[in-house]
Amino acid sequence: MPLAARYLSARTLDTAPAPSTPPGPGEVELAPAYVGICGTDLHIFHGDMDARVAAPAVLGHEMAGRVVRVGPGVEGWAPGDAVTVMPLRWDDTCPACRAGHQHICQHLDFIGIDSPGAMQQRWTVPATTLIRLPDTLPLDRAALVEPTAVAVHDVGRAQVAAGEKVVVVGGGPVGVLIALVAQAAGGDVRVVELSAHRRLLAEELGLVVWDPATDHVADLVGEWSGDAGADVAFEVSGAQGGVDTAVDVLGVRGRLCLVAIHPKPREINLHRFFWRELTLVGARLYDRCDFEKAVALVAEGTVPADRLISKVVPLTQAPAAFEALEGGGDVMKILVDCTDEAREAAV
Ligand SMILES: NC(=O)c1ccc[n+]([C@@H]2O[C@H](COP(=O)([O-])OP(=O)(O)OC[C@H]3O[C@@H](n4cnc5c(N)ncnc54)[C@H](O)[C@@H]3O)[C@@H](O)[C@H]2O)c1
Ligand SMILES: [Zn+2]
Repeated sequence: MPLAARYLSARTLDTAPAPSTPPGPGEVELAPAYVGICGTDLHIFHGDMDARVAAPAVLGHEMAGRVVRVGPGVEGWAPGDAVTVMPLRWDDTCPACRAGHQHICQHLDFIGIDSPGAMQQRWTVPATTLIRLPDTLPLDRAALVEPTAVAVHDVGRAQVAAGEKVVVVGGGPVGVLIALVAQAAGGDVRVVELSAHRRLLAEELGLVVWDPATDHVADLVGEWSGDAGADVAFEVSGAQGGVDTAVDVLGVRGRLCLVAIHPKPREINLHRFFWRELTLVGARLYDRCDFEKAVALVAEGTVPADRLISKVVPLTQAPAAFEALEGGGDVMKILVDCTDEAREAAV
């Protein structure tokens, strides 16, 4: 029987059999191959999102896999097709949807958080969520399309233009992807990151990286920009210190793009917003165009997804992988391998 990794309660995950059922009208059954563990999954693992997550819950929203079966009325998809999923379901009736912002529907179902996710061997989703992958793109790399779509959306929200000076605060997976996408848009990019391992990895990808613990970031930005400050700062750290840095580095009419999920209210230097006429832009998730662009960026190698994959673990070891990630350590992205081959090899 297919297997699923399930969140039970704070810091407890298990694996259990999950029977596969035929897809209903408009649905497609997938065999997820690789599923990424993201920062939000860790927030769930910590128990911070119990109000939203109905345990036992199958997590996972960064995935790539293949179509197994299509339900009645589904056209254009066939068993074997390589796909990723844009894990959003909206109601199409709320004020946000009616204004054309379905991705931030006021009753959004984020599949993998609000409903069962991809960390299982069979996963049924609406056919409307599928995004086709080129056959040439390996499925492990394709599991990074979803966080790349986040980055594409964020760079779009901040309207990064060629030649602009961009500071990305927080060089985790999302921050590094934003840096790469901003660079591809012509931005002149600097990354600020606390972890030595992550700084080194970002440097190996050709990015210029500063350490906020030892470098005086505001001074470095002054030297780099001829005292003007940065045009755009992305807050991707989720920490108070990151917020402070992002506000401090901006020049006149600079834009602060807020990407990180802050678990509590933060202090922010509003005087700086007044003094320099700054703008704050929120950025959440993505739309289909962002996803399609992300597929292209990963497929053509502009985003070298393989370099961000630190480790691949079989589904049976997903609980241990969450514990390891929680302890921090020298990792960027961990993928869970849901294939039968990985399951057999792990026995
Ligand atoms: N807006 C969205 O739709 C969206 C989508 C995905 C993720 N997120 C959020 O984006 C954030 C980043 O995601 P991630 O997976 O890369 O998370 P992550 O926790 O792996 O990365 C955050 C990084 O910030 C660094 N950091 C912490 N404090 C810092 C500081 N003061 N200065 C510089 N760096 C600092 C950490 O060392 C870490 O590497 C998370 O909060 C996540 O929940 C938002
Ligand atoms: Zn809606």
